[in-house]
Amino acid sequence: MKPINVGLLGIGTVGGGAFTVLARNAEEITRRAGRPIRITVVADKNMELANKVTQGACRVTDDAFSVVNDPEIDIVIELIGGYGVAKELVLKAIANGKHVVTANKALLATHGNEIFKAAQDKGVMVAFEAAVAGGIPIIKAVREGLSANRIEWIAGIINGTTNFILSEMRDKGLSFDAVLKEAQRLGYAEADPTFDIEGVDAAHKITILSALAFGTPMQFDKAYIEGIARLDASDIKYAEQLGYRIKLLGITRRTPDGVELRVHPTLIPAKRLIANVEGAMNAVLVQGDAVGATLYYGKGAGAEPTASAVIADLVDVTRMHTADPENRVPHLAFQPDQLADLPILPMDEVQTCYYLRLRVQDEPGVLADITRVLADEKISIDAMIQKEPGEGEYEADLVLLTHLTREKRTNAAIARLEKLLVVKGKVTRIRMEGLGK
Ligand code: HSE
Repeated sequence: MKPINVGLLGIGTVGGGAFTVLARNAEEITRRAGRPIRITVVADKNMELANKVTQGACRVTDDAFSVVNDPEIDIVIELIGGYGVAKELVLKAIANGKHVVTANKALLATHGNEIFKAAQDKGVMVAFEAAVAGGIPIIKAVREGLSANRIEWIAGIINGTTNFILSEMRDKGLSFDAVLKEAQRLGYAEADPTFDIEGVDAAHKITILSALAFGTPMQFDKAYIEGIARLDASDIKYAEQLGYRIKLLGITRRTPDGVELRVHPTLIPAKRLIANVEGAMNAVLVQGDAVGATLYYGKGAGAEPTASAVIADLVDVTRMHTADPENRVPHLAFQPDQLADLPILPMDEVQTCYYLRLRVQDEPGVLADITRVLADEKISIDAMIQKEPGEGEYEADLVLLTHLTREKRTNAAIARLEKLLVVKGKVTRIRMEGLGK
C-alpha cells in the first residue's frame, strides 16, 4: 500500500529517537497503521547532524518552510519547540492541509486555542501525545480511555528534572543548589533549567490535561505556578517525619466555583503510590467518577520514550487520515462546539491543607499566641511538632499541619504570624493534598 509521507522538523534528541524507532519497528508499525509510514524529509539547522542520523535514508534540508509547503508531505512532525518559528510552521502546515504531530507543550498551552481552531477549520488533525509526560499515553487515556467519566481531578508528577532533584534532596539530605549543580553536571538538567525548576514546564502540561479533562479551552495564563527553588532540605526531612513526601505536582480539579489549575511543591502521604515515584520518572493520577483513581507511570522524557508517543500519534493519524473530520476524535476530547467556559478559580479561593514551619522563640506562651492567630482565621490544626532547640539555642522549629482551609485565610494568618515578636523570619508554607477520594 502507498506509504504516508512524513516531514520531520527538528532531529535533536526526540527527532533522532523517532527516526530510529520508526526504522527499527517499521514492519510492526505498518501492520498496525495499515500502510507504511515513511519519513521523506528531515529539516534541521544542523545539516551535519541530520545527515549523520538519517544516513541517506531520506532527504535533508535546513529549510523547514520548504517541508510544510511540500505537496508530497501528508504529516508534519514538529519537534523544534518554543512558540516562535514552531508556531509559524505549525500554522502554515495546517493552512496547507497537513496533519501535525507535535511534542510542543509550551506552544499548545499558550497558543493551542488558535491552533486547534485553525485545524478544525481546515479539517486536519493535530496530535500531541508526546507533549505531556513523554512516553506515558496519558492524552489517549484522558481523551478516550476515560470518556465515560466525569473527571474530578488530575494530579501529576509531570516534570522529571524537578522530581529527580527532590528525590536526591530527600535521599542525600542535600540542598536544592547542590543537587541542581550535580544534575547539570550529569546532564539531567538543562544548562538553563528555569522552565523546569520554576514549574512552568509542569504548568504547560497540566494546562493541556485540564482542557482535556473538563472540555475547556487552554487557560495557561490563569495557572498558579510555584517552583521548587525555595524548598529547604529541612522541610523535606520534617515532612518525612510526619509521614509525607514533597513532590512538585500539577493539579487540576473541578469544583462548584470553577476549575483549579496549579503547580506547586506539595506534601502527599508517603503511603500513596504516587509519592513513591522517584528520580526522573513521571506519574499521573486521574480520578474519574465511574472508574475511581487510575495511575499512569513511566518515563516523561528521553529519546525513545518520547518517540514512542510521537509514533503512536503517527499511527493514529495514518489510520484516521481518510476518515471524515467529524468522525475523528476531537482535539480536546469534547466536540469543539461543546467546550465549556468554566472559570479558573483564583488561587486565593483554592481550598487545601497546609504545612507551616515557623522559627519561634522557645518561651512560655508562644504556642498560645500562634494558635490564637490560627483560631481567629478559622484554621484548624491537624498535627504539630516542635523540634528541641539545639545546644545553647533559644529558638526552635515549629511545624504545623492544618485541616482544609482557603488559601486566602492561610495567607492572612501567615501575615499575622510573621508580625508576632516570638516568630523569627518568614513562615514557610507548603500545600498538602491527601490524593484520596
Ligand atoms: N524537561 C522536561 C522534564 C522533559 O524534565 O520532565 C520534557 O518535557
